[in-house]
Formats: sequence, structure tokens, C-alpha cells
Amino acid sequence: MRRRARQPRDAGRPARLSKPTREFPWKSSSSPHPPLSRRSPRWPGSCSRGEALDGALAQAAAGSRFTGAKGQTLDILAPQGTDAARLVLVGAGKRDAFDALGAEHAAASAYAAVKTSGLGLLRIETPNGDADLAARAALGVRLACYRFDKYRTKEPAEKKPSIVKTQVATGDPDGALSAFPPLAALADAVSFSRDLVSEPANVLYPAEFARRVKELERLGLDVEILGEDQMKALGMGSLLGVGQGSVRESQLVVIRWNGAQDKNAQPVAFIGKGVCFDTGGISIKPAEGMEDMKWDMGGAGAVAGLMYALAARKAKVNAVGILGLVENMPDGNAQRPGDVVTSMSGQTIEVINTDAEGRLVLADAIWYCQDRFKPKFMVDLATLTGAIIISLGNDYAGLFSNNDELAGHLLAASATEGEPLWRLPLPDQYNKQLDSPIADMKNIGGRPAGSITAALFIQKFVNGVPWAHLDIASTAWKKPSIVPTIPDGATGYGVRLLNRMVQDRYEG
Ligand code: BES
Ligand code: MN
Ligand code: ZN
Repeated sequence: MRRRARQPRDAGRPARLSKPTREFPWKSSSSPHPPLSRRSPRWPGSCSRGEALDGALAQAAAGSRFTGAKGQTLDILAPQGTDAARLVLVGAGKRDAFDALGAEHAAASAYAAVKTSGLGLLRIETPNGDADLAARAALGVRLACYRFDKYRTKEPAEKKPSIVKTQVATGDPDGALSAFPPLAALADAVSFSRDLVSEPANVLYPAEFARRVKELERLGLDVEILGEDQMKALGMGSLLGVGQGSVRESQLVVIRWNGAQDKNAQPVAFIGKGVCFDTGGISIKPAEGMEDMKWDMGGAGAVAGLMYALAARKAKVNAVGILGLVENMPDGNAQRPGDVVTSMSGQTIEVINTDAEGRLVLADAIWYCQDRFKPKFMVDLATLTGAIIISLGNDYAGLFSNNDELAGHLLAASATEGEPLWRLPLPDQYNKQLDSPIADMKNIGGRPAGSITAALFIQKFVNGVPWAHLDIASTAWKKPSIVPTIPDGATGYGVRLLNRMVQDRYEG
């Protein structure tokens, strides 16, 4: 792929596929040296381009170690034979293996290469001009240009991105323009999710999270917010116990999208852990790194983002999103290690460690979900255990499921969208690690298989419904990120994966 960046001609949001791309790259009448063909440009040695440019590319490549390997970029200033200020060659790997994700990543790498160059316009040309690849390239730039900069008041101008507009060349502008809207909806949804996860906990506490989700009713979603009184009436002692040390009121948010033809069709359901800040409670965490626990609501952030995506692209499905929103604080009223709480399911839990709070939130949110909505399946997402980072590192989320078909659908969607996922077992014999001497279970299972016993705990609140649990403690936040479509910080992990699964398997 090659990209050229120019001075801004007009301002606009990055990565819009607009009608003028029909004329991209250059009308031969307006350019004495049409440098790049809109049909199937090739490199190197292409004869479809101006010789001056070919020469410049060959010369630049000869003076570098650019081989076209994935992720490599070669920056050529003032390339001969073009009117571009800069030309960036982006390695996209083997031609046969080049696919939609490759187009996204290459476009995102190109954006990164010129992001703060001082240039305003980025033009992208994909190797074969295919409409879907062009649309995915535009998605790549949309995802790559995400920034959370609302709290910066003194950033020097030269550190701010200068690119204000991106154009993508294609031989099929109509095809690209019809492929792009659902991808733009997805990018907006991922940004919405990243914003929630990036917000500090003094700003984004449960009621504020709920308020921001309520605003999504403008997309056609239906949003209900339950406060502590309503949850008490429902018997949600497990969730409420976690929030009882906080001055912020716990909230349960129910988001509904009814896009299926049959409005009464059984919904698919997604449940998110939304611990807006996790101090650990009385089992308090060490100071170092505790600031990371502002993103302990990443599961709820992903579910909110997914519901955004479904509504924005008018998915033909009935879906429910449930967010369990709490703040886990130590306080005179906080729950103590050893306390016994009664969950909505009726099962009692001995809270050995108040820092194993996510599972306590999910226990009631999941029970409520299946009790009220009788869903086709449930998928929960949670930044649940540090142990999943020990098991899988920082790139894979953990998948646990009681249903092979659902697990298969999730793994397939994960591969398609480039959000890596790895399945772990739910061995019945490990359940005994959760035995309590005085209650139906305790909330921790000790050090061995910490992510698995956390999943087994959640499974005790699943009542025969196909269910999957995604432990995203490893993937919700990246610093540094090695994926060009994911800037450092909140990733939005899960939005793309779940949106893809719904689109491929549960619509129509
Ligand atoms: N929110 C944490 C898990 C976490 C850790 C998320 C690191 C992201 C990065 C969770 O509530 C927690 O504290 N889990 C404990 C469980 C333990 C007490 C059994 C953990 O992983 O240490
Ligand atoms: Mn915790
Ligand atoms: Zn937590």
C-alpha cells in the first residue's frame, strides 16, 4: 500500500469515504504525470505508473531495508513525479495473505507515519483498489486516530495530529461507499467504549456511566436504570455488597435493542462488569498501579459499545445489554472479609476477599438477565482476574463456556476481527476450591487456576442457558499497544468481536 500526504485542502473528520474519491488519484487531464493508476497499482516494477515515480521508489527502497514486510514503513519526502509532499510506502506482507485486517493495519500504519507531520490530507491507495479493502482501510484510520485528549489544556501544537482528512482510492467508489457505513458505526461504537474506559473514576462513577448510556436512546436503544432500592427489592445482595462502601450509588443498566423482524424473538444477551474503580475494598490493593483500576469497568464499556454498534448499524437482532455498575471502596460501611451475602439466585456467598468483587457483581447481573429475558445465550465480559494476564499475556483474552457452539462462534469472530481469544477449561473438580465451611460457596478459590475458579464461580449463577465468559483483564487496556489500529490506552476490546459474531450468526 502506498499513501501520500498533502497540505490540507479542507478540514473534516479523518477517514471519510466521500464521493470525490471517484476522481482519485488524479484526473489525467489535471496532472501531467499521473503517478498512480487507480486500477491495480503495483510495486515495484509496475509499468502502470509514471517512470519518474517508479525511479524514485526504487531509489528510495534501495537506500533502505524496506522489503514490504508487514508493518514496515518507508517515508519518501518530495517524491519525484508526484505533487505529494511525502509518500509513505507501507509493508503489507505477502500479497496472497493480504486481507481486510491487513488493509486496516496498513492504513493505520500510514496514518501513524504522517499523523503529526504537519500535513493535513492523507490519501491512501490499496494494492488492488477493491471496494471492501478500501472501506476497511478507512476503518483502520478511524480506529487509529482515536485520542482521549479532553483533559489536555497545554499540548503544544506540534504534538497534535495535523491530518484532518483522509481519502481512500478505489476502483469501485459506489461499492466502497455502501460498505463503509456499518464500519463507521463500528468505529464510533469503539470510540464510545474507549472514552468510557479512559475516563477517570472521579468523573465516571456508576450514575455518570448510566447517564452516558441513557443518552444512547438517541440511536433507538431503550435504556432502563435501576438504583439501589430497586436492586434491594430484587434481592441483589451480592452486587450491592460490593458497592456498599462507596458514596456513589450502584446502578444496574438494562439496554435493549429490538431490531429483529419478530420483536418478541428471544434476545441475545451481554453482561458487563462495570467496577468504576476497584480499590480492592477492605482487602485493599497495593498503591502501585492502583490507578489502572479506573478501567475495571472495561467489560461494561464493551457491552455499551456493542449495543451502540448494533443500534447504529440497525442490526436485525433482538439484543439485551446489562451493566453492573459499582465502585469498590473501603469505608466504615464497606463489606468485610468473612461477610456472607445472599445473591438474587438465593445462593449464599462467603466473601473471603473483597477484591474478588467482579464475580459478585456478575452473579446478580447474570441471574437477573436470564430470569427476566430468557435469552438465547449470555456472554459476559469482565476485567476479572490478574491471573489471566499470567496465563495468556497481554494479547489474548480468556474464553470460558458451557457451550461448544457458542464458543466456536466467538473464536471465529475473534479471528475475523483481530481480537485474540483463547479458550480455557471449566473442570468440575476445581469447584471444590470454592467450597465454604459456612455458606454455599466462597468468592475465591486460592492461587491455582485463578481465572478458572473465577469462571467456575460465575457459572454457578448460570441456569442452563448457553453461556460464555470473556476475561478481558489482559486486553481492555494496552500500554504500549503494538497494533496500529489501537492507540495506547483503552482498546475497546470486545466491541468488534461481539458485533461480528452477532452479524455473522444471529441476524436475519
Ligand atoms: N479488577 C481485578 C482484576 C484485574 C487485575 C484487572 C489486573 C486488570 C488488571 C479484580 O477485581 C481482582 O482484583 N482480582 C483479584 C482476584 C483475587 C483476589 C482472587 C486478582 O486478580 O488478584
Ligand atoms: Mn478486585
Ligand atoms: Zn475488579
